[in-house]
Amino acid sequence: MNFLQKVVRYKVNFCMMYVLILSLIFFSLGHAQSPTEIDKELEKNKICFALYTVHEQTLKLTAQFYPVRSYDPFEATLQIKNNGQWETVQQSRIQYPGYTAHFRIENWDDTKEKEYRVVYKKNKFYKGIVRKNPKDKDEILMAAFSCWSIYKRHGGQGPADDIINNLKKLQPDVLFFSGDQSYDHSDHYGYWLKFGEVFGEIIRNTPTIVIPDDHDVGQGNLWGNGGIPTKNRDGNYGGYYMPVNYIKEVERAQTSHLPDPYDPTPIAQGIGVYYTDYKWGGMSFAILEDRKFKSGPKSVLSKQRYTDTHAMDVAGATLLGERQLDFLEAWTTDWKDAEMKAVLSQTIFANVTTHSPTLAKKQRYSVDSNGWPQAGRNKALSVIRKSFSCMIAGDQHLGSVLHHGIEDWNNAGYSFAVPAASNFWMRWWKPDVPGKNHVKGMPDYTGEYLDAFHNKMTVLAIANPTHKDNTEKENLLNGRASGYGIIRFHKNKRQITYECWPRNVDMFAPDAKPYHGWPVTFEQTDNFRIAQGYELPILSIAKENQVVTVKNQYTKEVISSLRIRGNQYQPKVLHPGHYTVEIGEGAHQTSLYNLEATTKNNKKINIVF
Ligand SMILES: [Fe+2]
Repeated sequence: MNFLQKVVRYKVNFCMMYVLILSLIFFSLGHAQSPTEIDKELEKNKICFALYTVHEQTLKLTAQFYPVRSYDPFEATLQIKNNGQWETVQQSRIQYPGYTAHFRIENWDDTKEKEYRVVYKKNKFYKGIVRKNPKDKDEILMAAFSCWSIYKRHGGQGPADDIINNLKKLQPDVLFFSGDQSYDHSDHYGYWLKFGEVFGEIIRNTPTIVIPDDHDVGQGNLWGNGGIPTKNRDGNYGGYYMPVNYIKEVERAQTSHLPDPYDPTPIAQGIGVYYTDYKWGGMSFAILEDRKFKSGPKSVLSKQRYTDTHAMDVAGATLLGERQLDFLEAWTTDWKDAEMKAVLSQTIFANVTTHSPTLAKKQRYSVDSNGWPQAGRNKALSVIRKSFSCMIAGDQHLGSVLHHGIEDWNNAGYSFAVPAASNFWMRWWKPDVPGKNHVKGMPDYTGEYLDAFHNKMTVLAIANPTHKDNTEKENLLNGRASGYGIIRFHKNKRQITYECWPRNVDMFAPDAKPYHGWPVTFEQTDNFRIAQGYELPILSIAKENQVVTVKNQYTKEVISSLRIRGNQYQPKVLHPGHYTVEIGEGAHQTSLYNLEATTKNNKKINIVF
């Protein structure tokens, strides 16, 4: 080989090496940016998932860790990407038991979307997106879930690719998990991780509301009775069975990332409270704890069984309790950054079941439903309707839409009980006869009914199981009527649409349909519909979209409160008499006194600020 050949070979080798190095760099760069393969590897066995909300410029985020082992540290860091650079914003100790790290960042700029990552030991990362406040969107989308069965054969424990794929396309603005995220009565932590492994993919990038229910705290039913301990896991006397540290761990994991509680005063045993409001996207949500203060049936009822359920409406039986009713009352008139409202709870304020757990077994009544105690149910609904709020809940394992009534049918809110996301325990609504004022063409189980506790309810849609009992082994998701809810808040039209979707359906397929009877659309003001009442004068207001609050002239009790759309509004009331009407908010507020409500009122009042 002469000198020239040597030089050429050297150059060729050098060039090949150069190409190899370049392509290695290119490949590794490309790989680092490609979707989450490396991220997932880094997350593995460290951070399971992360939940967050942003409310009134405060970001709260909980990072859920797998067990911290051996000599590993109990420190976690939250970083936010600003101008392409990761910046550490807070450090937090990992809490035990439960392995959760909690972050709280004030003065959060909610007008911008930001990437976040939870960092562990400088080399383990969990990434997600904190969404910007969608307050300029006309339609706010909520996806709502309930009851994630423990049984693999019913789809519990996942996978839930149908749900995840649909939601990745739909991009809901907020998620709501209404309870029974875990059904294991002694290992909440283990099953909360399994829940996170299934739903974490959508939770990581979406503000998420979670409230735990009875099974999450390790009992079949929960009448919290203000937090007292109970010796019976069936909970019939009221109270919590599991050790108080277990309860606290569950609430810490599931609810720490919610907006701060309205009144954080702990209840018995030092158990915390999380009921609060959450403002997002021009919506205001009241997040309730309808189990925590409720009386245990055996602590207030003298008989084992009742033939006449009227007699079960005993004095001293609590449902929401004074504290939560006070909160709801205060929330009624708070319309700051809010155009519409919804109340979120574990279950609905009615008993809409005729058969359970098989179609051969009639069920007379269930004190686990919020149909009982009746007076507590009516108190709750009568506050909720004041702000024309609709209601969303779960727990029933039976998808339903009801229009509630108090003094008469249809004069309180619309509720949507979303079905179980995977269903073991089945319930049906199959009454013997169609309801009063049944609409021709609607299913024969719809119309106006009295529930098992004589509460007025209009049944509008039901997703009954097609299976008749547990012997049926095929199609365990659809036959058992599992699914989830999509709620569309149309802020411009002031309407709400409830959709109940079955499992294993591509929502975006051309022939895709929700369960029979859905979608159900109704007006915001139908949540306090006064068919035969009294009218106040027509208000013509110079400034549009003002808050109008009607108060009893003498007691100052709030009768209704609404952010109207446009410039004109005629308030209606149930009773004749004199009323004070407050218009506007903050510095721009004016009051009208001594307005008389009459059956037909043509009087018009012009309001300028
Ligand atoms: Fe459940």
